[in-house]
Amino acid sequence: MQFPRASALLFLALPAGAEELTFAATQQFLTSNCAKCHSGKTAAGGFVLNRLTTADTLQTAPVKWTRAALRVRNGEMPPKGAGALTVDEREQFAQWVDRSVRGAVCSAGVKPSASHIRRLNRDEYSATIRDLLDIHLDLAKMLPSDGSGGEGFDNAAETLFLSPLHSEKYLEVAKFATDFASKEYKSRSKVIIARPGPGLTSDQAAHKILEAFLPKAFRRPVAAADVAPYVTLFRAASQQGQPFEQAVWFAIRGALVSPMFLFRVEPPNPDSKARLLDQFSLASRLSYFLWGSMPDELLSDVAAAGKLNDTEFLQQLIRRMLRNDRSLGFAQRFIEQWLRTRELATDKAPDAKLYPAYAADEDLRSDVRNQPVLFFREVFIRNLPLTNFIDSKGTIGTRKLAQHFNEKLPLNNNASSQPQWVELPADSRRGGLLGMPAVLAVASYPYRTSPVLRGAWVLDSILGTPPPPPPPNVPPLEETSSGSTPRSMKERLTQHRANAVCASCHTRIDPWGFALENYDPIGKWRDDEGGKPIDNTSELLDGTQIHGPAALKAALMERKDLFLRNLTNKMLGYALGRGLTLQDSCAVDAILAKVKENNYSAQSLIEGIVMSVPFQQQAGRASAPPMKKEAGKP
Ligand code: HEC
Ligand code: HEC
Repeated sequence: MQFPRASALLFLALPAGAEELTFAATQQFLTSNCAKCHSGKTAAGGFVLNRLTTADTLQTAPVKWTRAALRVRNGEMPPKGAGALTVDEREQFAQWVDRSVRGAVCSAGVKPSASHIRRLNRDEYSATIRDLLDIHLDLAKMLPSDGSGGEGFDNAAETLFLSPLHSEKYLEVAKFATDFASKEYKSRSKVIIARPGPGLTSDQAAHKILEAFLPKAFRRPVAAADVAPYVTLFRAASQQGQPFEQAVWFAIRGALVSPMFLFRVEPPNPDSKARLLDQFSLASRLSYFLWGSMPDELLSDVAAAGKLNDTEFLQQLIRRMLRNDRSLGFAQRFIEQWLRTRELATDKAPDAKLYPAYAADEDLRSDVRNQPVLFFREVFIRNLPLTNFIDSKGTIGTRKLAQHFNEKLPLNNNASSQPQWVELPADSRRGGLLGMPAVLAVASYPYRTSPVLRGAWVLDSILGTPPPPPPPNVPPLEETSSGSTPRSMKERLTQHRANAVCASCHTRIDPWGFALENYDPIGKWRDDEGGKPIDNTSELLDGTQIHGPAALKAALMERKDLFLRNLTNKMLGYALGRGLTLQDSCAVDAILAKVKENNYSAQSLIEGIVMSVPFQQQAGRASAPPMKKEAGKP
């Protein structure tokens, strides 16, 4: 079940002077706007208002309330006649519901929500095989891609069931990987740790190998009964005349398509109360969070020693895991989905006819795409304040990027130290995510900038307050056609402001984007366009005048609480691999309090997440969902 969260509902603060609603006023709102269709036995959509008439329903029926808020906020309810309620009225209702429901739900303390059994997604699968067999192959390419769910990431349990197509592909890939590994010296010496020899039958040798291999593959200790079926597989292959090693690889292939390998299975909690997760499940959660792969030997040892609930120990462990190369995968998967910069490789690629030099320069394109990824990782390794994502005195530089910026960067010109962390000159325009071409390009059209798209991107990706979806049938922007006098973007967009319905959304969206107009669609700086100076001034809804990117960042800094909540929501959703529940949003409050106490330090966010109730605990049986049928067997 998905809940819209606080931040998702706050399409920017209400204008000053907007009254706080009361419970009684909310009842009044529902009666006058909704009762017509939502009363009695024939209530539309099964949504009955008289089940929401007392304050305790905020706690007993939170989903009904949040559904109502979501439909109202999106302009879907009441249906049609969008003019019936203003954006402010919708926001006011939605924000009241959100605050009140959270207040009611969180007052009882944070509880863990049910976690679902899930398949390894294709990146996790590929990385796990890599670490397990010590082979370096990009197996992900051979697997179907995963859709995204939850907080917008492709590791969300909601989407990771096993279809027949998946089973077939995973079987194919397991065969490919074991065939490959059986010919590699490194993997063979890692896996084939015994051979039939004096005093050791081939059955016994195979048993020894599998006994050592299976706990790694299944990421937890295995019982004798778990080993037996694989020894049987070995025997069957032997009896068909396969030589010893080949028969062992056959058994291993069987392990690689076992649900214990393919799925992240946590032993169910038999109790009706929540409990601490077992150490091995916790080790897996940690390593799939920060590495996107299986626990290494040290992590497994630490789990066996039962040390994963020790705060101080965990802090050290997290630091070590971030410094490990494997955290690069985390940085890439997280940030490219959070900022949507993955789309630069597909439908958001800048137009090659308009930007031929950029399109032709593969190194530059790769530097552009990697810049936010490496920046993200450095912020965490260096434990810098999270506000560096809004504005920063340093960035990731390369020679190609410096040329692209047309800015002097104090680069160390040693080729091996590229890309590198550079301190930016005081007047630099490149601090923070919004100075990065990857971000500026992905929030543009391939052929022109759009203050609307960039504004919506800032509201969504940075502040976590996405604007409601645009109404249907809005006429497209008139493009600057040849012949007529070119008009500036601002002139073309003033049409929105003239119409009150359009203005209700666009006065909230566009100002953020106008301040970024100096960056062209590939993030290069420009002072004019088509012979006219760029107009980068705008006025935020609260009256703040902003003028260019520096002022924009200052305005975002003033709203850093929204940004931090958004980042925390995203990262907790990624870490848990599922959409957040209302209970999780109570945990987010606790994590944010810790982050603030630690001056917004980046590692305190990861520590807060790893130490949080939903990460450390397992819900009681009562709230466990029935297992998905298709998730049972490959
Ligand atoms: C003119 C009739 C009408 C009015 C007025 C109306 N609704 Fe609805 N509502 C519907 C219909 C029809 C459906 C079922 C179709 C659908 O879900 O879109 C529905 C479905 C719903 C649902 C249930 C579906 C879901 O998303 O879970 C909710 C909640 C809802 N409306 C909330 C409201 C609220 C809150 C108001 C008042 C602000 C309101 N509606 C006003 C006609 C109306
Ligand atoms: C409910 C909020 C809302 C309302 C009302 C609204 N819009 Fe939008 N509009 C958006 C959002 C959000 C986008 C960005 C869509 C996207 O991400 O693709 C957008 C995009 C646009 C764009 C594309 C911008 C570009 O650079 O090409 C135009 C043009 C536009 N709107 C015009 C209008 C006009 C004219 C009206 C009034 C008739 C209007 N909008 C009403 C939310 C709204």
